[in-house]
Amino acid sequence: MRETKQAFTLSPELLPRHLGIIMDGNGRWATKRGLPRSAGHTAGAAVFKKIARYCSSIGIRYLTVYAFSTENWSRPPEEVGALMILFKQYLQESLRDFRDDDIKVNFIGDTSRFPANLQKLIAETADVCRNRKGMVLNIAMNYGGRTELIRAVKKIAEKVAAGVLRPEEITEQTLSDSLYTAGQPDVDLIMRPSGEKRLSNFLLWQSAYAEFISMDVLWPDFTPENLNRALTEFAHRSRRFGGV
Ligand code: FPP
Repeated sequence: MRETKQAFTLSPELLPRHLGIIMDGNGRWATKRGLPRSAGHTAGAAVFKKIARYCSSIGIRYLTVYAFSTENWSRPPEEVGALMILFKQYLQESLRDFRDDDIKVNFIGDTSRFPANLQKLIAETADVCRNRKGMVLNIAMNYGGRTELIRAVKKIAEKVAAGVLRPEEITEQTLSDSLYTAGQPDVDLIMRPSGEKRLSNFLLWQSAYAEFISMDVLWPDFTPENLNRALTEFAHRSRRFGGV
């Protein structure tokens, strides 16, 4: 792939360890071309594959992409159906063609609401990747930050009720360890194409100290060069984590 060969000169310590991407603008991209919204998602899926591999090639350790939110079920059934087909295609391709990629695909969100055949592919993909050592690719599917927090609080409450944890022992770490992203570093940078400047219920706890970059490009038009620009801007940000 041409993009992976180009020299991107940021040293690894200047890269976000954990990058989050809200893949936004697929619908607008399609509408601008007089196409159905699903065509935007198809184009977006191709960009997702390219960018995920690019991130892995430049040394990003954790990448989380927002593929389907808990709120996306309210879209027209044709659009939801088209997204389900795309997810299946991507996972089938990953299982068939990407065996040599050292990318550890992981799913965050309540995947139990997806059709049974998609759930099976999700489980198979996670299983095939289990021992990979390369970039962790979290695909957020039926994910919502608030739902994730409620799930975490329930897990903690169960431990308290069972007498294995005392309320005064609950720390930030206890909560982090109860999230879908347990064991992973907090997100350093959230990048949102399409010009929108919202978090939209994405990684609410994990983004406490994240930098946010909004870019005026629709996701299906997004390129590795756009990502390089965002990463360069991130490298110039002064992160103080509440200090001075
Ligand atoms: C937001 O754009 C995008 C989505 C709700 C779906 C994102 C999904 C993909 C890119 C498909 C590929 C993913 C995988 C894991 C294969 P929007 O539809 O809200 O765009 P709009 O704001 O322009 O309407």
